[in-house]
Amino acid sequence: MPETPSFVPGPQYDGWLTGVDQIAYGGDYNPEQWPEDVWAEDVRLMNEAGVNLVSLGIFSWALLEPREGEFDFGWLDRVIGLLHAGGVRVLLATPTAASPAWLYAAHPDARVIDRNGTPMGPGGRGLMAPTAPAYREAALRITTALAERYGKHPAVVGWHVHNEYGAPVSLDYSVHAQRAFREWLRERYGSLDALNAAWGTAFWGQHYADWEHVQVPAATATSANPAQQLDFARFSDAALRACFVAERDAIREHSTAPVTTNFMATSCPSTDLFAWGREVDIVSNDHYLWAADPRGHVGLAMAADLTRSVAGGKPWLLLEHSTSAVNWQPRNVAKRPGEMARNSFSHLGRGADSIMFFQWRASRSGAEKFHSAMVPHAGTESRVWREVVDLGANLGRLTELRGSRVHADVALLWDYESFWAQDLEHRPSEGTSHRERIDTYYDRLWRDGHIVDLVRPGQDLSGYKLVVAPASYLLRADDAANLTAYVEAGGTLLVSYFSGIVDEHDAVHPAGYMAPLRDALGVWVEEFLPLRDGDSLTVRYGADAAGAGPGATDLTGTVWADDLVLAGAEPVGTYADGPKPGGAAITRHRHGAGTGWYVSTNLDVDALATVMADVYAEAGLAPSGIVEGLEVVRRTGGDAEYTVAINHTDDDAKLPLAAPATDLLTGDAVTGDADVPAGAVRVLRTTTR
Ligand code: GLA
Repeated sequence: MPETPSFVPGPQYDGWLTGVDQIAYGGDYNPEQWPEDVWAEDVRLMNEAGVNLVSLGIFSWALLEPREGEFDFGWLDRVIGLLHAGGVRVLLATPTAASPAWLYAAHPDARVIDRNGTPMGPGGRGLMAPTAPAYREAALRITTALAERYGKHPAVVGWHVHNEYGAPVSLDYSVHAQRAFREWLRERYGSLDALNAAWGTAFWGQHYADWEHVQVPAATATSANPAQQLDFARFSDAALRACFVAERDAIREHSTAPVTTNFMATSCPSTDLFAWGREVDIVSNDHYLWAADPRGHVGLAMAADLTRSVAGGKPWLLLEHSTSAVNWQPRNVAKRPGEMARNSFSHLGRGADSIMFFQWRASRSGAEKFHSAMVPHAGTESRVWREVVDLGANLGRLTELRGSRVHADVALLWDYESFWAQDLEHRPSEGTSHRERIDTYYDRLWRDGHIVDLVRPGQDLSGYKLVVAPASYLLRADDAANLTAYVEAGGTLLVSYFSGIVDEHDAVHPAGYMAPLRDALGVWVEEFLPLRDGDSLTVRYGADAAGAGPGATDLTGTVWADDLVLAGAEPVGTYADGPKPGGAAITRHRHGAGTGWYVSTNLDVDALATVMADVYAEAGLAPSGIVEGLEVVRRTGGDAEYTVAINHTDDDAKLPLAAPATDLLTGDAVTGDADVPAGAVRVLRTTTR
């Protein structure tokens, strides 16, 4: 048997889910899709699987308020009562992500309008226009009614507001958005002169002389003003957040339980999660593997790392993932045996204190009937159910991990404004993608066994040995100054191409491309030299001045090259061909006590290995020495270190241990190397004292 836990969750557990005394385990529960006699069976099966938490009522608005202002809480009372009697706690949802038909009928103007003027709904789901008074009033009415009725119910230990703000649509071009956008701009700029200057309206004669003429950037004959589009992205995110804040505050009038909403870290760039993270009591996330990607577990790791970073390192809730296939991708691949557990343990290792699924019981009807669930259509005589029960039992052995923390030595910049700006039209090459560069650098770091935080460029970076800035196109001058100060103080910064190009208005920095990083990098960009589709070039890396030498390696670059002007940096890689043969391609620059690296072309994950090995050495990062495909994450709490090892390969692997450990899943003592069989997971505790 596992030993008694040595770590008691600390003060960060203030406001945690009262009464959920283990790693939270469960999923979305939609009992209204089933006759009542199934509910008792559900609770019995939840107990069998070790489920201790469900998200309830996420899409139940039409049943809870069948007519405007008329409530029917009887069925919800009975469900919550059954769950409570069975010891299952509830994250009670506000159902405002799926408005009832009567609301659409009464207020057609409150529908979301897309960029081409098409109204959305009813008949699907997704919020109505976030700035429409009728939607906001109705959302607050149902939220308040729920909070009044259940705010002190002992089973309701938290609130799940709405569902995935930003999905399925985040931009609304309705008349309400038009009015609210103007108000938001007036607040932001104060005067039309300031707005005209920020948007650069002298270009293409877009100058505004009257606030009433300022529009949301709906369809135009050609590309809309990029600064206007960037502000519209900011405004739209703020409008969604205002909906959340209003619901949260209505709940707080009647309940002290923590309030959260489920994010979609890495899959919904329209919501600035760093801003959202400041508004929730507990950070929560949903994650789904992209089935077409056989290395989806790397994307999963990045989503989990972003969620932890948004939570400021505190534990977070995984509110949704899937037991097996989803239903909404072009080809919905079933998870292989053990894959659900590997996914779950990766989230857990990266700081999640809950493992939850969409959904508890598979739906018979509707758009998601082919989506997997904890109770599949095949029932309990199934592989998925057996794995669900096993996972619940294993999580029950890991209570002591709750509240423990993950430490990262490496930071990767993740800046929503840079996404919003870089993804607009008319960029130098459609081959460049902020997200692609982030994914590739993250993949390299994952393969090399480094734990990564995803950070804003303006935040305190002093705790990181290495900061990586992949295609940070929009970089405010003060954020560039923060990166420069980080290098000065001894940090290692690696910047990839198309970074530091524009300011917060999508205007090119006055001193030219990459000028704000010139001190840190010792180099700036005279001209972009993007490649034709399919072309590649050669970078001679690690060569001496004559282009040779024992360390010289040829690396292939694609998509991009720069005409660089050296301003103190040394070239460590030179273009052997391409648009500027003989020009510097990769540079290194000592600045203050640190070093700034610049990589001016697109290196794939294999080519990056060569460069990153030198960057790691410079940053004082030790190689992990672990076989690629064995994911190892550590959480520490009290005097314990928990090593979560996940073998994604088809071969057995060994994990060298520095100290004797206890396997928390089996209770076995482990010394020397820990065996991690193909596809298996181990959770090992060592004592740090
Ligand atoms: C999202 C939603 C769920 C469900 C799942 C399906 O994450 O929040 O309601 O639709 O997708 O994968």
